[in-house]
Amino acid sequence: MNVHDSQKIAALMEDSGYASVNDVREADLIIINTCSIREKAAQKVYSQLGRLRKFKERKPNLIIGVGGCLAQQLGSKLIEKVPYLDLVFGTHNIHSLPDSITTIEKTGRTLVRTDFQESVESLGIVAPSDNGKVTSFVTIMQGCNNFCSYCVVPQVRGREESRSLSDIVKEVTVLASRGIKEVTLLGQNVNSYGKTIGEGYDFAELLHEICLIGGIERIRFTTSHPKDLSDRLVRCFSEVDKLCEHIHLPVQTGSDRVLGMMNRLYTRADYLDKVYKLRAACPGISITSDIIVGFPGETDRDFQATIDMMGKIRFDNLFSFKYSQRDGTAAAKLSDEITERVKSDRLKIVQALQEKHTLERNEATRGNAEEILVEEISKNSQEDVTGRTRTNKIVNFRGSRELIGRTVTVLITDAYQHSLRGRLLNVN
Ligand code: 5AD
Ligand code: SF4
Repeated sequence: MNVHDSQKIAALMEDSGYASVNDVREADLIIINTCSIREKAAQKVYSQLGRLRKFKERKPNLIIGVGGCLAQQLGSKLIEKVPYLDLVFGTHNIHSLPDSITTIEKTGRTLVRTDFQESVESLGIVAPSDNGKVTSFVTIMQGCNNFCSYCVVPQVRGREESRSLSDIVKEVTVLASRGIKEVTLLGQNVNSYGKTIGEGYDFAELLHEICLIGGIERIRFTTSHPKDLSDRLVRCFSEVDKLCEHIHLPVQTGSDRVLGMMNRLYTRADYLDKVYKLRAACPGISITSDIIVGFPGETDRDFQATIDMMGKIRFDNLFSFKYSQRDGTAAAKLSDEITERVKSDRLKIVQALQEKHTLERNEATRGNAEEILVEEISKNSQEDVTGRTRTNKIVNFRGSRELIGRTVTVLITDAYQHSLRGRLLNVN
């Protein structure tokens, strides 16, 4: 979501006459788009800003702005901490960025814009047409109405609001006309898409509609809250032929006791049941997840329940994190802190186990003829191209620039931790 926000920021500034530069020292405007989901992300912002201070001293007209979740959370407090900032803008103030920059250029004033004014209809900002990309994100909703006790997102991204189905279809149609073949629909909890518009449309309906758009070959989405994963959405994996066979379904922990403390509103058995249904409806579906270790009060037994669950499910991939206390969340009031040492040890165990499972899953594709959408020349070799399987695994194979944007069939010959290697069989 943040990557997409950065793309929107770049597109808006390009539309108002700015051009991007490769070397930050040449810039007249520097925007840092921030994340506040964990403490580490927030700390990175301060060290980045520290490095930029000398730029500002050398070039007094340089404008430095900070946007995103940390900016939303801190507002003018960020100016107190970093007095050489020109602009702080929140998660609902991206659209007014060009206007803010013009005001700063004219008046030299420092601006703080963090009101929740911007409507959901301004979310559709299509990126420039000439970047040769074949995949694109599309925001379908903003905010979140869940209150997972550890999570700062509802605070910084506001209440849930869906874009209208017709606006989304319009945006995807424009993207298709610009050569985009694959869209990833973005929302904190896509399963509740449509609830705020009352059009009688839900997420499954949206998937069916997007499937009708010519030129679009693949549809992905993220993220899906397990408690709201409906049977109707599960069925989409067999009914909507452009929907790729991958779901990111964050479980967070395998312990019912910790799930309760996290306010996730499902049990371990509920989650396993959803995984079972997904695999029954769509054999070969790739399932990825998020896990937090060291939530306050997590015992060895709770942690073992997470490890046990990982063994039962064998995720294709996993993002795992140490719990990080965030101001203003319900969990911040819990006193039963886990030591840094225990968190690190638990994280290492989770990551080592996941490495094993990822490799195992990747190796299972060896010998398969996989459909790949070719995205770009490989970063490691000019003679190779890179694309993804429908299950979202990266594949490199010998091929030239002309294949970019094409859907091809590749025989998987080797499997590694982070990618697969294959041989081109035919161009579809
Ligand atoms: N500490 C650690 N991880 C967190 N996440 C969200 N909030 C926190 C936190 N306070 C993780 C969750 C979520 C992912 C996007 O980030 O696993 O699914
Ligand atoms: Fe945060 Fe929970 Fe909302 Fe996801 S569903 S953004 S974890 S509050």
